[in-house]
Amino acid sequence: MQNQEDQLKQIIAHAKEYGFIYPSSEIYDGLSATYDYGPLGVELKNLIKDYWWKSMVQMQENIVGLDAAIFMHPKTWEASGHTTAFNDPMIDNKDSKKRYRADVLIEDWAAKIEEKINKEVDKAKKRFGDDFDEEQFRSTNARVLDRQKKIDAAMDAFKTAMDADDLEAVRQLILDLDIADPVSGSRNWTDVRQFNLMFSTEMGSTAEGASKVYLRPETAQGIFVNFLNVQKTSRMKIPFGIAQIGKAFRNEIIARQFIFRMREFEQMEMQFFVRPGEELEWYEKWKENRMKWHADLGFDSDYYRFHDHVKLAHYANAAADIEFKFPFGFKELEGVHSRTDFDLKQHEEHSGKKLQYFDPELNKSYVPYVIETSIGLDRMFLAVLSASLKQEQLEDGSERVVLKLPAKLSPYQAAILPLVKKDGLPEKAREVFDELKSSFMLQYDEKDSIGKRYRRQDAIGTLLSITLDHQSLEDQTVTVRDRDSMEQSRIAISELHYHIQARLK
Ligand code: GAP
Repeated sequence: MQNQEDQLKQIIAHAKEYGFIYPSSEIYDGLSATYDYGPLGVELKNLIKDYWWKSMVQMQENIVGLDAAIFMHPKTWEASGHTTAFNDPMIDNKDSKKRYRADVLIEDWAAKIEEKINKEVDKAKKRFGDDFDEEQFRSTNARVLDRQKKIDAAMDAFKTAMDADDLEAVRQLILDLDIADPVSGSRNWTDVRQFNLMFSTEMGSTAEGASKVYLRPETAQGIFVNFLNVQKTSRMKIPFGIAQIGKAFRNEIIARQFIFRMREFEQMEMQFFVRPGEELEWYEKWKENRMKWHADLGFDSDYYRFHDHVKLAHYANAAADIEFKFPFGFKELEGVHSRTDFDLKQHEEHSGKKLQYFDPELNKSYVPYVIETSIGLDRMFLAVLSASLKQEQLEDGSERVVLKLPAKLSPYQAAILPLVKKDGLPEKAREVFDELKSSFMLQYDEKDSIGKRYRRQDAIGTLLSITLDHQSLEDQTVTVRDRDSMEQSRIAISELHYHIQARLK
């Protein structure tokens, strides 16, 4: 069994070795929290986008797409609240000169105590064996209760301080909890300050004429400001949705855990516009619909859970995250939010333009309510990669590393492999390759032994390996090896197209 840190390390190494993900500008030692997608990465990313787009746009009569610009009028971000409220509390350590998110320091402190509780539980589990009742132990053991009380008190104090915008109280809490800089061990902290996460730049060529613009921190606002454009030009009737995939930028104070938290990332968002009063019904439908989208990929259901928000943002009247079991624990993968009419109303107010819909059935105009589904493409990539990467013990005692990607997300659907590099087999293999390449993503490989080539294809998740041998020249059949079962079957070349297609379904 690998521990969590090793598992993440293995994923990062695998992603680099096989050309899924590289650190950005690596020859200059990289740029923190920024990554480049390599040849296999871009394929997998496109397949995830395609899976989302098909399900959210192609299969939905009442959802249409949009590709809004990354730059938006600066007033957009005043209306959305991002210029004033899109902040993280940060604190610097005066000795190490390192910057941290105050909330993360406190959460990490809580996680360490949580770890101690879990160790206590594990110890008791071993001691009592089958008779062990974990729930009872957690609710009665004095040491566990005492530790849990400490965590709850600290988290409550943090929440109270943040709600009151009392940053001095947040600093005091860090001091009271005796939190040290994880790098230097120093407790020499600065004040806590709010740090806006939006990146800004200048638009315009002269210093006087230039104005400050932001790189969008979410794609959603491009949808809100285009609500009427899309509704009118596509003749949509409520309920209807607008979907978009695009880049977003956040100057995250701490960016870690690989592509989980990046400074430049992609979102796949959909805003669904509904009649006021019907939003909670639609919220439940979208929660269910989005979980089904995840489940249809075929990973174990244990990987997912809902986290319903108890404390809601000021604009929401219901919200939940779909959390995924990443190598570092359950974390948010997607958000489903009932955002009321907050965003459209804010844009009405700041732009002075009406953003209302005339409902012919009700014979009246109103500002629609919005259900939002928002998933990070890169987070989804990491989720897929971490649930697919397996190390398997084979019957002959050897091991294989295999990327058991869902069939529809496999970058290469098949590899075409001549058994040997002579006797006319490469020529025959090329013929098969050319015949199929307009229908499928294929890889041609004739280097190394067939065993090594199978391993390489397993490692990059190629669904089928098609081997041509001497018999192929005589009877026009090939061996098809399935990545997951490693079973091999003899198939006529003329049947290959159908066979690959069937496997993809
Ligand atoms: N429009 C709503 C919105 O942006 P969010 O919870 O801030 O909500 C939505 O972001 C999703 O975007 C998250 O669930 C996550 O998957 C992804 N995401 C957010 N920040 C990210 C980051 N720094 N790096 C990678 N993905 C991120």
